Amino acid sequence: MIESIVNVAGLTLDLGSPGQPLIRRLMAALRDGVRDGRLPAGTALPPSRTLATELGCSRWVVTEAYGQLVAEGYLNAAQGSVTTVRALGVADDHGPTRRSQPDRRPRFDLAPGVPDLAAFPRARWADCYRRAVLERETGLLGGRSLLSTIDARSVITDYLVRTRQIREDPSQLNLSSGATDAVGWLARLLSAGGHRRIAVEDPSWPGLRDAARRAGLQLVPIEVDGDGLRVDQLDDHRVRAVICTPAHQFPTGVAMSADRRLALIDWAHRVDGLIIEDDYDAEFRYDRRPVASLQGMAPDRVVLVGSVSKTLSPAVGLGWTVLPQQLIMRILSEDLELRTGPSTFTIDAMAAMISGGWYERHLRAMRLTYRRRREALLAALLELLPEATVRGMPAGLHVVVDLPAGTDVENIVDQAARREVAVAGIGRYRLRSDPAESSLVLGFGNLRSGRERDAVEILAAVISTAGSGAGGRDRSRG
Ligand SMILES: Cc1ncc(COP(=O)(O)O)c(C=O)c1O
Repeated sequence: MIESIVNVAGLTLDLGSPGQPLIRRLMAALRDGVRDGRLPAGTALPPSRTLATELGCSRWVVTEAYGQLVAEGYLNAAQGSVTTVRALGVADDHGPTRRSQPDRRPRFDLAPGVPDLAAFPRARWADCYRRAVLERETGLLGGRSLLSTIDARSVITDYLVRTRQIREDPSQLNLSSGATDAVGWLARLLSAGGHRRIAVEDPSWPGLRDAARRAGLQLVPIEVDGDGLRVDQLDDHRVRAVICTPAHQFPTGVAMSADRRLALIDWAHRVDGLIIEDDYDAEFRYDRRPVASLQGMAPDRVVLVGSVSKTLSPAVGLGWTVLPQQLIMRILSEDLELRTGPSTFTIDAMAAMISGGWYERHLRAMRLTYRRRREALLAALLELLPEATVRGMPAGLHVVVDLPAGTDVENIVDQAARREVAVAGIGRYRLRSDPAESSLVLGFGNLRSGRERDAVEILAAVISTAGSGAGGRDRSRG
């Protein structure tokens, strides 16, 4: 069977549906990669024999595809040497001249929370956006009413029903510029409704809790253990709202256990409370299907908050909330979405990405890329940092690495940055610092494929010198 997702020079290419001959699909995928800059000028393509084996096709298909793209000016082939990507200074068949974009990402990006920025499907997004602009009826250019996006909203709702098992009604879907935007206006709504405090996980991502704080709510830190949020602690604090990450706790990487989910929903019913479910990276689970959303279990008590920041790019500026019915009338009456939400073209473009199958295809490709990258990172950590313990289920875009007690994590973060390795200490995500904790949070979303071992090698050298002060062993000297 010929795979539709294939890895070329560390880049996952999507060969599309098998309706067309493989050679045409391979050429189209390579052209897209070069035009988008995801295959930058100078990149060496795999030998035809290797790629043919990976694709499960005859070598002829690959040599013909390479040959055609050499003729078109996308690739370079010198006699007897590797085929490489050519700098695109010429006009392509999409019209105006487009050069590949400079790649100014950190050399070894282990910063948590960043998806693979080079994999953003530029050409596909641009096509969908272009269609959204060209196809929107003139009469609907006059405003940004909810009605004018009703079709797109039902496409997004269907997607969430299918993949996150939400319940169910497009009228419950409110669009935002991202999760932070959504939590900001939800917190304002809670504040206006008499809430003074909101519970948050400790540790957690500062972006969302800061949005709640800016809206005037006092933050109440709640501990997290191997089953997720310590629901039993909510009762001690007279709170009636909580922000949590049930599918994949950020950053500890645990999934909320079934008992905890039920206890959390029970708490919300008891206190007439609201659960804000931050569903930030549930699409990326590598060992099984993603766990269903909490919203699907208690749609009257849970607001599901999601965005494309991890799946496409934060630059898109699009997110969604699925709201309990009782909040909807208030939002409509206060006109919250319409002033701050995304452009209708962005909403339409996203709906086109979903209904064309491109969004889920991109997710499938990225799941494969991230799973492999995570495995390579874990293998390098096991080999080069045997004293470390890696935590976090096979999911998402980061892992937690526990270092021996007493390791100077902040110094490691500083020293690693000097050597172009971006990492974060877990302290950055804590509300109440824990001096006994020596853990790093390593993201692998934006780490270039094939660089996992090099990144860990530098990190291990930094840890051996900076982690324990002057007495440390310097691995970089072998
Ligand atoms: C835990 C968590 N939730 C949500 C988000 C997404 O926020 P936004 O949609 O505002 O970009 C992030 C982004 O880094 C995150 O780390």
